[in-house]
Amino acid sequence: MSLPPPSVEDPSLLADLRADLGEVGYTVDALAQVLGPVAVAALHREQPLPALRATQGSSDPVAVLCRLFALGSAVRRELLDAALPRLGATGLLRLGLVVDDAEGRLVAACDLRPYATEQESWWVVSDRSEMATGGPLPTDHVLGIGGASTTLASWAPRPRVERALDIGTGSGVQVLHLAGHAAYLAATDVSQRALAFARFTLALNGVDAQLRAGSLLEPVAGEQFDLVVSNPPFVITPRRTGVPLYEYRDGGRAGDTLVAGLVRGLREHLRPGGTAQLLANWELRAGEDWTEHVGAWFAGSGLDAWVVQREEQDVADYAETWTRDGGHQPGSAGFEELYAAWLDDFAERGVERLGFGVVTLRRPRTGREPWLDLMDVRGPVASPMGPTVLAGLEARTWLAEHGEAELLDTPWQVADDVTEDRIGRPGDPDPQVIQVRQGGGLRRTVRLDTLAAGLVGACDGELTARQLCAGLAVLTEQPADQVEQAVLPTLRELVKDGLLR
Ligand SMILES: C[S@@+](CC[C@H](N)C(=O)[O-])C[C@H]1O[C@@H](n2cnc3c(N)ncnc32)[C@H](O)[C@@H]1O
Repeated sequence: MSLPPPSVEDPSLLADLRADLGEVGYTVDALAQVLGPVAVAALHREQPLPALRATQGSSDPVAVLCRLFALGSAVRRELLDAALPRLGATGLLRLGLVVDDAEGRLVAACDLRPYATEQESWWVVSDRSEMATGGPLPTDHVLGIGGASTTLASWAPRPRVERALDIGTGSGVQVLHLAGHAAYLAATDVSQRALAFARFTLALNGVDAQLRAGSLLEPVAGEQFDLVVSNPPFVITPRRTGVPLYEYRDGGRAGDTLVAGLVRGLREHLRPGGTAQLLANWELRAGEDWTEHVGAWFAGSGLDAWVVQREEQDVADYAETWTRDGGHQPGSAGFEELYAAWLDDFAERGVERLGFGVVTLRRPRTGREPWLDLMDVRGPVASPMGPTVLAGLEARTWLAEHGEAELLDTPWQVADDVTEDRIGRPGDPDPQVIQVRQGGGLRRTVRLDTLAAGLVGACDGELTARQLCAGLAVLTEQPADQVEQAVLPTLRELVKDGLLR
């Protein structure tokens, strides 16, 4: 059974908690120092034992808070009185952050962890993880910071904006990020429990946001935003009895229709030039091309759309991931039953593979045709990715709004993070392959033919692409317009992902 969420009713208790946590230095770095790299890595694999051993018997406040809030240990009251001198054990009880275990010790009623980027540091409050409770999650579980949360936080473009919205806010983590670059913040969630956690997280961090109860965009009917982000409940779950529907990951619709529907509804909530970004899963049937399946979501949406597929899983891999995520251990009866339910559902509906990716949308400022770009990028990318996404949106929009002539009449410059590989047989005078490689951003590698390699090699920001093509035409004894037409597709490709600026 779920314990009630913490309460924000007494602002003075929250102020004491904030002051104590700040003074103690309950930060990501302090936790890493107390635990050491081995225990931190084990925690990422949801193995608490090394962290329990690293903090055992310690009265260091960070170690005490880690045992209480992250590891699910019972902690003596006097240790908490010492770790949080203003709030003490009594204040923790009054906030609803802990409960009494009837043996003079307190146990956490929720998870409270530091969370940080390079620039900022916060505390996030959510339900206790399966590692802390030691059992399958209840279906009203409010998610802490997971892999998808940090993916969205990394990929979200962060221009300074007036109005921002987070759909499916959960613990409120995305709102913390938005608070750094948006003047007005709104967040929705269908779960009252999630909203209570978000309210607590935001109050603890001194962030002011409008929290609205309701499904997806319903609570913001008639409103428009400059930036919308969403880590929605995108998991594809079988609709059959016995399969638990977790609020945090399942939006109650069949297949991948929830995200497809969200995409269709977004245009009227974006100001002209406004951006939305969401994470999604998509299901693919035999022979189905992901770009056709996902591309169809945007037909008639009126939005520019850029989708980066990051991962493709087969049905068994996907079923294992999400059965395991609910807290069912491989080998248990519950695990086998749910695993089978997922496989049956996919088999009945002919689903063979599941894709995962990041969808970025922009409402054009003018009445032009929207652009669509679907790309597959599996490996590591820059972190954070937001600056790359913002630059990529600008570049794609520029390309959509400018013709061949403007592309050719621009003095392009090779970006600082681009290097060139020339690969050939030892002793051969000419390389068999020439490619340029991006050090940051999407870490793209683009293969070049000799003409394109000649052009890119000369892009120093002084001469226009047309002038460079004229030089290449003389060198290769071809008409200049033929050279231009030959290099244009590569030029476009390099400009859109920032290899040429
Ligand atoms: C995957 S969690 C994301 C939480 C948080 N934003 C993050 O990034 O970690 C999805 C959230 O969407 C909420 N949710 C589920 N169905 C919803 C719906 N139909 N409308 C709005 N929110 C919904 C869940 O309660 C949950 O808090």
